[in-house]
Amino acid sequence: MILPYILAAVREAVAVTKLHPILVNFTAALVPTSVACDAIARWRRHDQLRATAWWTLLLAAWITPLTAATGWLFWMDDDDGVLGMTIHRWLGTAIAMALVGLCLWRRRIRRSEQWAGIAYLAVAIAFVAAVAVQGTLGGRQVFSGM
Ligand code: HEM
Repeated sequence: MILPYILAAVREAVAVTKLHPILVNFTAALVPTSVACDAIARWRRHDQLRATAWWTLLLAAWITPLTAATGWLFWMDDDDGVLGMTIHRWLGTAIAMALVGLCLWRRRIRRSEQWAGIAYLAVAIAFVAAVAVQGTLGGRQVFSGM
């Protein structure tokens, strides 16, 4: 079977290029940017910020599954059994999947040419909080030993 060799090569490439720590920055920047743009756009009735909110969320919804996938491939032995990393693993996977749902919701808002509603903004702010927790847990694992 060639599959284990391919997987080992991909894991090696992800470890060497440090792809997960690179991609996390996109997720961590795009999600809050989108939500902030939507909130300000709604308040100031600003079309360009509303468009920015859509495009940044769309990018986040495409990139975050890669962020999560590289996280799985970046997993190291010393991450096993660490509570924070167990939460990080499943919270990150859930965020990546749920972001697609948030993006579909946002697409409906875009198609109806409305401003982001209070319900959408409340859920989107919860996403920002979840991404902040996620980043804190990952960073704690990387930097706690320093
Ligand atoms: C929304 C998705 C995710 C975000 C925003 C995220 C964020 C982060 C951040 C900020 C770090 C610290 C990186 C650094 O500064 O070097 C990190 C490290 C890490 N993350 Fe994630 N992560 C996500 C998903 C995942 C998933 C799904 C997994 C595993 C299944 C995972 C596994 C790891 C591992 C193994 C590390 C390195 C820990 C170590 O050095 O021991 N991540 N992550």
